[in-house]
Amino acid sequence: MKITFLGHACLQIEVGDTHLIIDPFISGNPKASHINIEALKADYILLTHAHQDHILDVETIAKITGATIVSNYEIVTHYQNLNFEGHPMNHGGKWEFEFGILKYVNAIHTSSFPDGSYGGQPGGFIIEGEHKNIYIAGDTALTYDMKLIPLHTKLDLAILPIGDNFTMGIEDALVASDFVQCDKILGYHYDTFGYIEIDHDEAKRKFFAREKDLMLLEIGESLEL
Ligand code: NI
Ligand code: MN
Repeated sequence: MKITFLGHACLQIEVGDTHLIIDPFISGNPKASHINIEALKADYILLTHAHQDHILDVETIAKITGATIVSNYEIVTHYQNLNFEGHPMNHGGKWEFEFGILKYVNAIHTSSFPDGSYGGQPGGFIIEGEHKNIYIAGDTALTYDMKLIPLHTKLDLAILPIGDNFTMGIEDALVASDFVQCDKILGYHYDTFGYIEIDHDEAKRKFFAREKDLMLLEIGESLEL
């Protein structure tokens, strides 16, 4: 499994020959201006919630690639009404896709579309594919629901928001990594705007002091599991 950070909360994940894009927000992110949206491959676009900084480039990418949009029922219905392909899910449900098993799990946040219309309840994803299991938390507060995840899934990587203000910050993300029982963390949802700027060295030190590994990738950089 190869995971590429495309800035903010946007990821590209390759599982075998299947390409997933998570929460595309590239054209609105000046820090990601070197990412060519038109060249991105996507068989599926996974959306954690409907906020602008997670869906901005969905239509552009889906038009070029024909990707299937996977999210909660309300978000998928919104895109199906615009004639895009979709697979609706809801919290606690899982489905076996060609790339593996995908589960939509709880997040504590909000989920309106940019025009204010209802975007269902926000979530995160667990992906079990190619013998690797990852948790993509989405925008969320620290929540006890995270403790449910290791009951079923032994994670190889937890992708957690760490920018604070709109989501968990570093201190809560540390506790979240305890709750999900995973010491390998990829941080996301930081530095994009003024409210969520973080001190990288301090953040890494805090995880290191707890014998955990916080990875912060450059935009366009990848890691392999
Ligand atoms: Ni959000
Ligand atoms: Mn966000």
